[in-house]
Amino acid sequence: MKYVLGIDIGTSGTKTVLFDLAGNVMASATGEYPMYQPHNGWAEQDPEDWWKAVCSTIKEVLKKSGADPKEIGGVGLSGQMHGLVMLDKDNKVIRNAILWCDQRTAAQCEEITEIIGRKKLIDITANPALTGFTASKILWVRENEPENYEKCRKILLPKDYIRFMLTGEYATEVSDASGMQLLDIPNRCWSDEVLTKLQIDKSMLGKMYESPEVTGKVHRQAAEATGLAEGTIVVGGAGDNAAAAVGTGVVKDKLAFATIGTSGVVYAHSSKVRIDPKGRVHSFCSAVPGEWLTMGVTLGAGLSLKWFRDNFCHAEIEQAKREGKNVYYLTDMEAAKIKPGCDRLLYLPYIMGERTPHLDPDCRGVFFGLSAMHTRAHLIRAVLEGVSHSLLDCVMILREMGIEINQMMACGGGGSSPLWREMLSDMFGCEVMTVAQKEGPALGVALLAGVGAGAYSSVQEACEAVIKTDKVQKPDAKRTELYLKYHVLYNQLYKSLQNDFKTLANIEEA
Ligand code: XUL
Repeated sequence: MKYVLGIDIGTSGTKTVLFDLAGNVMASATGEYPMYQPHNGWAEQDPEDWWKAVCSTIKEVLKKSGADPKEIGGVGLSGQMHGLVMLDKDNKVIRNAILWCDQRTAAQCEEITEIIGRKKLIDITANPALTGFTASKILWVRENEPENYEKCRKILLPKDYIRFMLTGEYATEVSDASGMQLLDIPNRCWSDEVLTKLQIDKSMLGKMYESPEVTGKVHRQAAEATGLAEGTIVVGGAGDNAAAAVGTGVVKDKLAFATIGTSGVVYAHSSKVRIDPKGRVHSFCSAVPGEWLTMGVTLGAGLSLKWFRDNFCHAEIEQAKREGKNVYYLTDMEAAKIKPGCDRLLYLPYIMGERTPHLDPDCRGVFFGLSAMHTRAHLIRAVLEGVSHSLLDCVMILREMGIEINQMMACGGGGSSPLWREMLSDMFGCEVMTVAQKEGPALGVALLAGVGAGAYSSVQEACEAVIKTDKVQKPDAKRTELYLKYHVLYNQLYKSLQNDFKTLANIEEA
């Protein structure tokens, strides 16, 4: 065995990467597909599009690298979590998959909370009923499309549908299954109690594995469709965040990562199960067998800066085009002219509502403290600081739960900004680093495949052998003190405005 293959079935596209056993990229390919939004707040994809992207990207990677498919020790699958794929008795997809960001299931969430009870639900599934999670999507189909539910024999998550196409096995693994709201998170198995109360037949769900375990082998038809060798093993893999954790080496206590993409995530590894009784952060099984993760998700992270850029940074957009520079490099240069605290200007990044810590779909963005002395550069810096405050909220909840965070990896587009990393380090009061390898989830699941294939003895050993940290940002005690003063006010502002946000949401438009 010379190589391992990681496949990440994301929302905008599938990324397939072939690595050698030292984690070097041999070849990489991406295939995109559309997302359908038939109604406001709905989000669907055609699982057939994922499969086509998987087949074409595997073929492309094999061609580019010239690798002998027989030298690929194993395949790892990662992808968008929570999506609902339903198969009929002939294994045909019944309807488009309902995705993680689909918001149609508020009524079903209330129903689930009513049937199971909020406390019990959090005790078992480690999370309150959330529209993003799979259980409410299943109930929605049962209630709104009974003819489709009637036909359904198997329920799979996005990457597990690809596993089925590759191996013919109906299987899943604990990290992704954690986002279905049907898993007993402390015991890492389907919850009979939740399934019985929600009247969901357990035989519809996949067989449960730990992430590095072998779940099946590539069959002949799939080998023909992808170019992989028949018999190549496919391991459990992991949901995108749990996979990114392996790909950044966050596989031991006290390690954590923060991602700033469209949304923002603060993820901490935990060898013990830790559940927030208030349900403000998600607790899931991690990709390390027998261990867990806790993560906070903030919705308007990179999205806030993108919104500001698109509406108010035309000069930078033009300059970036002219000079072939990244526009965010230019907005960072503007923000860097302003001192921490933005001369008493705060931004609340709730432009899409908020998950952690408020679980509030109605709150909205705010600039607070605007003065005639403020410039556009102040506003850019306030956006960066406001997003960092929202990530600090996540860190504070994790610390309140007894999770120690000594070191934070920074990933995603925002993680590549030195200025943003400086803010995160100052706000969190800990070192913030990046890793040399930028492949995140694809590398994570390729390493899991390496563990399953016997190239490494454990997930931790695989990370130690492969993941290298590079840039280190140390906190500055003075700035930390200043940011914490602003953070008290940042939180007070949400409390002061909470009811006003509801009033705003209820104003009838003309
Ligand atoms: C996690 C979550 C997203 C999706 C899509 O709870 O909703 O990270 O997995 O990437």
